[in-house]
Amino acid sequence: MIPTLEWTSNGVRFIDQTKLPLEESYVLATTYQQVADVIVTMVVRGAPAIGVSAAMGVALGAKNTAAQTTAEFAPEFEKICALLAGTRPTAVNLFWAIDRMKALFAKLRSEGVTLPQIQQTLLSEALTMYDQDIADCKAIGAHGADLMPDKGGVLTHCNAGALATCGYGTALGVIRGAVERGKQIHVFADETRPFLQGARLTAWELMADGIPTTVLCDNMAASLMRQGRIQAVVVGADRIAANGDAANKIGTYSVAILAKEHGIPFYVAAPWSTIDRATATGDLIPIEERSATEVTHHGGKQLTPHGVGICNPAFDVTPAKYITGIITERGVIRAPYIESLRASELEAK
Ligand code: MRU
Repeated sequence: MIPTLEWTSNGVRFIDQTKLPLEESYVLATTYQQVADVIVTMVVRGAPAIGVSAAMGVALGAKNTAAQTTAEFAPEFEKICALLAGTRPTAVNLFWAIDRMKALFAKLRSEGVTLPQIQQTLLSEALTMYDQDIADCKAIGAHGADLMPDKGGVLTHCNAGALATCGYGTALGVIRGAVERGKQIHVFADETRPFLQGARLTAWELMADGIPTTVLCDNMAASLMRQGRIQAVVVGADRIAANGDAANKIGTYSVAILAKEHGIPFYVAAPWSTIDRATATGDLIPIEERSATEVTHHGGKQLTPHGVGICNPAFDVTPAKYITGIITERGVIRAPYIESLRASELEAK
């Protein structure tokens, strides 16, 4: 299994995704500040992975505290959560994970639990989230496999694979699930400018699994669709609003429009922790703007003239009307999304 992130007795160990695919190296975060830093610098990225990383960061902060009592630790706990919550704004999984740690801390504190027990329970919670994420991805894979063609091309954008989760992946989990059931899938991986998650990460992890993969530049998808080489699209999501609008890596929206134009199904695969029913529509999802140098430079070399204007939104929002189905661990959700997301939430309670 690809070791995206792992709790160790010395801290949280991450595969360094900024170095892949040419170098397989690891970063050990021994403090919660270092966990925040690996999220900001994209050593770890992908919505479910950053959620669980943040939970482990909270557990690490609790473990390392010099406080002697719960009351002494409480303001430090707030500081830890605030730093981790400030790392990236779009993926709701980050806030979902931190809120879950906060709720647990508040409950334990109200019950008068001792600080050593709190430290242990926060760690258990983070480890449960880790295991749950892998189980959710496997369930997403099982539900989504049926929707994939028996034989054909499947396009994906960015990396929603093992590297973006604790293992197996969401969109790539669907592809893995289909391949495990004997389907002959050829993956077309958009390179995903500017950070190249598709070219570097999706290609790397699918090749490790022996799944046939072709990388294409982002501007080639329309042409391949017109040639009949793509039978389905499956992507991940960073946040899905209550009406089904889905934020994902910049460029996803254009792929969805292209798929609709060519009559190709467009699926979004995500765990329930990506669904944000408190956000009514996609227009309200905060979109991270990243550094201009991701666009102006590549491999340390400047590509653009000095001083030119640059925009670098990391995500876009695909309106629900382009989404054929949302594949979750609870099953496949279909339009009308407001009603079906609400019904699935009520059913799970
Ligand atoms: O900026 P990134 O690399 O964190 O963006 C990742 C994506 O957009 C993924 O598609 C999304 O988080 C889903 S991961 C299962």
